[in-house]
Amino acid sequence: QPQKLWGGRFTGATDPLMDLYNASLPYDKKMYAADLEGTRVYTMGLEKIGLLTTEELKEIHRGLAVIHKEWETGTFEEKPGDEDIHTANERRLGEVIGRHTAGKVHTGRSRNDQVAVDTRLYVREELKKISSHLKVLVETVIKRAEKEIDYLMPGYTHLQRAQPIRWSHWLSMYATYFTEDYNRLQQIIDRLNKCPLGAGALAGHPYGIDREFLAEELGFNGVVGNSLAAVSDRDFVVETMFWISLFMNHISRFSEDLIIYSSGEFHFVSLADAYSTGSSLMPQKKNPDSLELLRGKSGRVFGSLAGFMMSMKGIPSTYDKDMQEDKEPLFDAMTTVEHSILIATGVISTLTANKDAMAAALSMDMLATDLADYLVLKGVPFRETHHISGECVRAAEENHLSGIDQLSLDQFQKIDNRFGPDVFDTFNFERSVEKRNATGGTAKSAVLKQLANLQKQLN
Ligand code: ARG
Repeated sequence: QPQKLWGGRFTGATDPLMDLYNASLPYDKKMYAADLEGTRVYTMGLEKIGLLTTEELKEIHRGLAVIHKEWETGTFEEKPGDEDIHTANERRLGEVIGRHTAGKVHTGRSRNDQVAVDTRLYVREELKKISSHLKVLVETVIKRAEKEIDYLMPGYTHLQRAQPIRWSHWLSMYATYFTEDYNRLQQIIDRLNKCPLGAGALAGHPYGIDREFLAEELGFNGVVGNSLAAVSDRDFVVETMFWISLFMNHISRFSEDLIIYSSGEFHFVSLADAYSTGSSLMPQKKNPDSLELLRGKSGRVFGSLAGFMMSMKGIPSTYDKDMQEDKEPLFDAMTTVEHSILIATGVISTLTANKDAMAAALSMDMLATDLADYLVLKGVPFRETHHISGECVRAAEENHLSGIDQLSLDQFQKIDNRFGPDVFDTFNFERSVEKRNATGGTAKSAVLKQLANLQKQLN
């Protein structure tokens, strides 16, 4: 039976299944670097208050570097008593530098403040990585939008053709969402960047460790100001998973649009082979699996968020083992979002946009609003022009015409005598799009301005 860190008051052995059930090393070893870094800085704090000599500190830091190398090269040997990354690293430190000195590193520290600081450090670094991938995704969307600014397509509400828009305007919509996600992520990183180390098990540090020093050395922008909160708070885990859930929601809608646009009926876009798969039965099939997975995984990360909030909601303060349930959903969600961003970037940078198919999907009825607007400029109230334009749509239908543009001037004037020969200028998709040049609109100048503004926010 291996010796347990907490074994002193125990006489009986743990049930073997309980050992397995309790162990978090299989997943929390991901945080090995954060754990070693936390200990490196914590021991500096101990030396500052005279609880370690300079020689002991040097020896400890040498040992930590050895262990780091072992993890890095895959040679760290896990042993049966290693409950989690904290116990594994401390056990190994004893083997590398001797139990006497290694036995001093945990003075005044608990695994409660240790796991809190490790997780914050780990999440902080992962989120920075995710943030830089996200920046590339947004820039990819922006670049594509600038290049294909002349492509017109139908805009939809209720999935019914509504008004003509630029394909780039659609791209710019998602670039807008993703830029907001990017900004929100910076705020979350900033908020979680507070140091819980030095809180002890819960009540605080008994030897007056300099917590501000620990925080600064670990790159935090402050300390968690209450030791009970320091060990019991997992809001940063919840916020991270919320961020991932919301972002994946956006990715899911983006994917859903592209799945529809890539269908044979629409054919607005064609996915690259690299992000499609075939059917084992139907030889002609090319399926947008990448997009379907992006859509599907958004459900899983939301499940992680909801599940962990359920784990947290009723537990008494301060630390309870329930909180160990943060890691599997958190790590899964972080890996999922990282891969999803990379896949989405690949999809959007390699797909083909079919300008002609987009243009062919535009229909004259989508200019019925423009027809109403035509009479507005002649002084007719919009409520009236809306009705008149509707009558034109009905007249075209009743006369089996291909569109409202096929009505004769005579027919227009029979409906309303304020129609003049210039009414036919209305039936031009480009003109319709270019009229919408107010901020945020679909006119070329407005879209280019949106894209430039988004790029500025990323810089
Ligand atoms: N593996 C534990 C976790 O992830 C570390 C903290 C254990 N603390 C304790 N008092 N048992 O939460």
